[in-house]
This record gives sequence, C-alpha cells and structure tokens, in this order.
Amino acid sequence: MLTGLPPRILEYLTTTVLTFDADLRLTSINPAGEMLFEVSAKKIIGQSLSDLLPHSRRMVKALKDTLESGHPFTARGVPLKLPGGKTITVDCTVSPLADGDMEAALLVELTQVDRLLRLARDENMLDRQSANRAVMRGLAHEIKNPLGGLRGAAQLLERELPDKSLREYTRIIIHEADRLRNLVDRMIGPHQPLKKRPVNIHEVLEHVRRLMLVEIPVGLTITREYDPSLPELEAEPEQLIQAVLNIMRNSAEAMQNQGVIHLRTRAERQFTVGHKRHRLVLRVDIEDNGPGIPEEIREYIFYPMVTGKAGGTGLGLSIAQDIVAKHGGVIECRSRPGQTVFSIFLPLENGHG
Ligand SMILES: Nc1ncnc2c1ncn2[C@@H]1O[C@H](COP(=O)(O)OP(=O)(O)O)[C@@H](O)[C@H]1O
Ligand SMILES: [Mg+2]
Repeated sequence: MLTGLPPRILEYLTTTVLTFDADLRLTSINPAGEMLFEVSAKKIIGQSLSDLLPHSRRMVKALKDTLESGHPFTARGVPLKLPGGKTITVDCTVSPLADGDMEAALLVELTQVDRLLRLARDENMLDRQSANRAVMRGLAHEIKNPLGGLRGAAQLLERELPDKSLREYTRIIIHEADRLRNLVDRMIGPHQPLKKRPVNIHEVLEHVRRLMLVEIPVGLTITREYDPSLPELEAEPEQLIQAVLNIMRNSAEAMQNQGVIHLRTRAERQFTVGHKRHRLVLRVDIEDNGPGIPEEIREYIFYPMVTGKAGGTGLGLSIAQDIVAKHGGVIECRSRPGQTVFSIFLPLENGHG
C-alpha cells in the first residue's frame, strides 16, 4: 500500500494522523497525535469521535458528512477543544478511504497552526537576538579598549600624586572603570567555547534550588516535578546553572520573595528550534505564581537592557537566552497575572549543536 515508503513513516510525521472506522471510532493515531491530544494511543483507541472531541461539534459534523457523502473536506483555522480542556487551532483535512477496510473508513490529518505561528516567531526572535549579540560584542570591544587605557593611566597617575588625599579621585576612576568593564562583560556573556560534558539536568536544577533557598531562606517555596527517565545531555553545567539562576531570581524578585516556584522537567518529541528540527528535546519549566511580566515589556524581555525594575540591569534573561542558544536550545515564556512560565528547551541528541 505505502509504495516505496517505510512502514513506520507515520511515526515520524509531525502532522497528526488519525483513522476512524465506519462507526466513527478511533482506530489509529500516530505519535504526533498522541502529543497533540496529550494521551497515549492505548488509552483512546476505540473511543468514539464524540467522546474524543465532545466540544468540537463542527469537526464531528464534518467527519460525519464526509463519511456519508464520500467527499473529502478541508478547513483551516478550526478551533479544537482537546480532552484536557486546552483549545488549539488546527488546519484539518478529512479524506474518505473508499477502498479502505472496516478498520479505516476515514483519514483525518490535523496540523496545529498556532504552534507554527509560534515557531515562525521563534525563528525571527532567534535571528534578531543573534544580530543583537553581534552589535553588543562590537560595542563591548569598543568600550573595553579605551577603558583599559583609562584605568592604566589612572594607576600611573596615582603613583605620581604628591598629595595622598588626591588618591580618592584616582580610586574613583579605577573603580568606575572596573564596574563598567564588569557590566560590559556581563552584557556579552561568557565568550569561551562551551566545555560540554554529560550532565544530569536534575543536578543542575537541584544546585540552583539549594542556592536560592540559601539566598532566600524564608517565604520562598520551590516544588519539583522531575521526570527521572530523562537521559543526560551534553552541556556545560556551570552555564546552565547561570541560566536557570537568572530565571529563578527574576521569579523570586517578582514575587517579592514570597511565593512558590515550581520546577518541571519532561521530554518533548519533534521540536523545532529556529531552522532545526530535533527528535528529542528536554524541557524545563520554571513556573511562578507572581504578578506576571508587565504587559508593556512582555515582548522584549529577552533583549539586553530591558528591565521592569528600578535597579535592574535587564541582562539576566538576555544572558540566559544566550547560554541556552549556545546549547542549541531556546527559552520561551508565557505570562499572566498569577502564572508565569519560562520554558527552556534543550536538544538531547549527542554531538550536535
Ligand atoms: N518571573 C517573572 N515575573 C514577572 N516579571 C518578570 C519575570 N521574569 C522577568 N520579568 C521581567 O523581565 C524583566 C527583565 O528581566 P532580566 O533580563 O532578568 O533583567 P532584570 O532582572 O535586571 O530586570 C524584569 O525586570 C521583569 O520586569
Ligand atoms: Mg534578572
């Protein structure tokens, strides 16, 4: 039947493929479908269409019509309420399988389009961020060179000063030069190539958790929901610690050190970062129940120097994104009052990125 195609091809499709029998009971679902419905095939095979999608009358009707008329049906941008309660938007094609057996009378293909939109945005965002980093690097270089000269000259001057009380001024020059240099270094992030080794993500998270609980001994609760079956990833743990720490500090600050941070890990299949699709990525969610990211900066929080705080540098998230990008991954964020989630996605293939 599948001339020339390997029989397991459906497993690799990112499009959801479902088949229904003539009584509109689900007879098969591919892994992309299991991901979309967030349920295992075992659990839902045999279910009737109306049980599967109790709130999507339009879809149910379309399938019934196709079955009766024998005409294929296509619709774009259909809202679909999933059994878990989430509503997504899909493009949908329903084809009658005329020569199909009783097992498969209808073929349904679903492509989640809100996800595609998001991925497109990712690509833009990644491009913009890397352009941004290039500008920052150039700028940093231009600042650091004269700064070195300035500091050196102040030191020489200090030695020659006849009156020790004047040293106060050279101290200020040197101190401020150091502060600026520090800021610039942080702006461009760590620049050495990554020293990757196999890392257990949970050790990274536990490390940060301990640090946070030492920093904020009362008021902050950090709960965990780890998937212990996750494999190790190739990464530089010190840098991942920095990235997670930056995100968690923001959460604690937003909640004024009073609240709950929830850490969650899981694996995701077939995930695209920029132009590259990965079979398996590790996902870390850092969720807080604080006030949420101020609306007016929500789109820009990953840019350097964007801050919602009086004394903020606006560098934390830009550095975190930089670190994760160097590991071939991406950080995304969803936020509303009472729930802010930063998700770090890190590819799990060995030797790539
Ligand atoms: N969990 C969060 N809840 C609310 N706002 C947040 C959260 N994380 C980040 N932000 C917002 O994003 C801004 C940028 O964060 P960041 O890049 O770390 O810089 P900084 O912390 O120095 O302001 C913060 O100032 C804050 O307004
Ligand atoms: Mg910060």
